[in-house]
Amino acid sequence: MARKPTERTRAGIVPGIALVTGANRGIGLEVCRQLARLGTSVVLGARDFAKGKEAAEQLASEGLRGGVMPCQLDVTDDRSIEFAVERVISEIGDLDVLVNNAAILYDTWQSAIDVDLEQVRQALETNTFGAWTMVRACLPSLRRSAHPRVVNVSSEAGSLASMGGGTPAYNLSKTALNAVTRMLADELRGDRILVNSVCPGWVDTDMGGPGGRPVAEGAASVVWAATLPDDGPTGGFFRDGRPIPW
Ligand SMILES: NC(=O)c1ccc[n+]([C@@H]2O[C@H](COP(=O)([O-])OP(=O)(O)OC[C@H]3O[C@@H](n4cnc5c(N)ncnc54)[C@H](OP(=O)(O)O)[C@@H]3O)[C@@H](O)[C@H]2O)c1
Repeated sequence: MARKPTERTRAGIVPGIALVTGANRGIGLEVCRQLARLGTSVVLGARDFAKGKEAAEQLASEGLRGGVMPCQLDVTDDRSIEFAVERVISEIGDLDVLVNNAAILYDTWQSAIDVDLEQVRQALETNTFGAWTMVRACLPSLRRSAHPRVVNVSSEAGSLASMGGGTPAYNLSKTALNAVTRMLADELRGDRILVNSVCPGWVDTDMGGPGGRPVAEGAASVVWAATLPDDGPTGGFFRDGRPIPW
């Protein structure tokens, strides 16, 4: 798989190389499909390599413009992150886009009063610290990109403006992820790295359950932030390209 020359569309920039975490199913898989359709070389991160390989083979069989490379990547494992980033750089090149999509624990069975705090810690470990660690590990590579972007796949469940009871571990992890977006966007403005949080909406996946909108629509909300033009926003929280309250 090789880096393609930068292509611009009316809406933004087609990334040369993108890494998507938690991409063997759900929204992450569809983000890979949509980016590869545009011509991006996509690294499909999966904590279980066999599942990632199977998913990448499925995408490859669809004849997309860009290549798809599966990569073992557990966002809670520092060594796995280090190996994955090194492999991407040595085998394909520097990253243009990091999509922090992996997440767990939509804890509909809990309330803030009687929550199991161990589950809150687990949610933070993957949904917040995992994404934060990924950005730090990819930073040297992203800094060498001409059009670097970081997309933190968040959720309106993490919005303080509409915060209610329920799903406490998940909500807190996404609120904290949004804080990470704000801090990194500010610190990385000088490096021209656009960092945004995106809510895909309620999507019909294993996590979202039946009744949500089609996965293609949720993924498109994420791809929008991955393909922003150089004068696009940073430090924002968006759904379908429109700002939503923090
Ligand atoms: N679906 C919705 O309605 C909705 C709404 C708002 C926001 N979101 C957000 O959208 C993103 C994708 O959600 P989804 O609905 O596609 O979820 P999903 O179907 O449950 O998929 C989650 C993905 O994350 C992976 N993952 C979990 N822990 C990981 C780890 N430690 N390292 C690497 N990968 C890991 C899973 O891998 P395994 O297959 O190995 O478990 C799976 O590929 C998440 O950030 C979620 O919070 C979803």
